[in-house]
Amino acid sequence: MPIVSVVDFMGEIQKEVTVERGTKLLKALIDNEVDIVHTCGGMAKCTTCRVTIHKGVPTKKTQAQQDRFEKRIKSGQSQFDHPAVFLSCQVVVESDMTVSASETFNSVIHDSIGKDTEDKVTPDPVWLDHEVPDWWGIKD
Ligand code: FES
Repeated sequence: MPIVSVVDFMGEIQKEVTVERGTKLLKALIDNEVDIVHTCGGMAKCTTCRVTIHKGVPTKKTQAQQDRFEKRIKSGQSQFDHPAVFLSCQVVVESDMTVSASETFNSVIHDSIGKDTEDKVTPDPVWLDHEVPDWWGIKD
């Protein structure tokens, strides 16, 4: 079964969890008490569940994520314009991966950590190929 390693901003491993292949990444993180905000409950709307995937970058992404990222990039949020950045609610774990959460819970900013999420990717995913350029240095 794949291992998801969660690292902090310094790259130090905070948690390693073994998950069943095909598990939604956000669900795996929540079920293993990883500190990650998920305001909309996995509907590809809020982007608080954003992760950087340092190893094991998926070769597919959802249309819903693509559409959300395009809107954010158009509004000047360049952090969404990187091939290693994903919405964890739009990722299915197929192999080992190393991830870091972009937004952890802060009671000053957040009312709650977020709504519950379904086991499956929502909305029903339309999968697109995801190209990772060699020169980004994030291919396994
Ligand atoms: S976009 Fe809101 S939880 Fe993923």
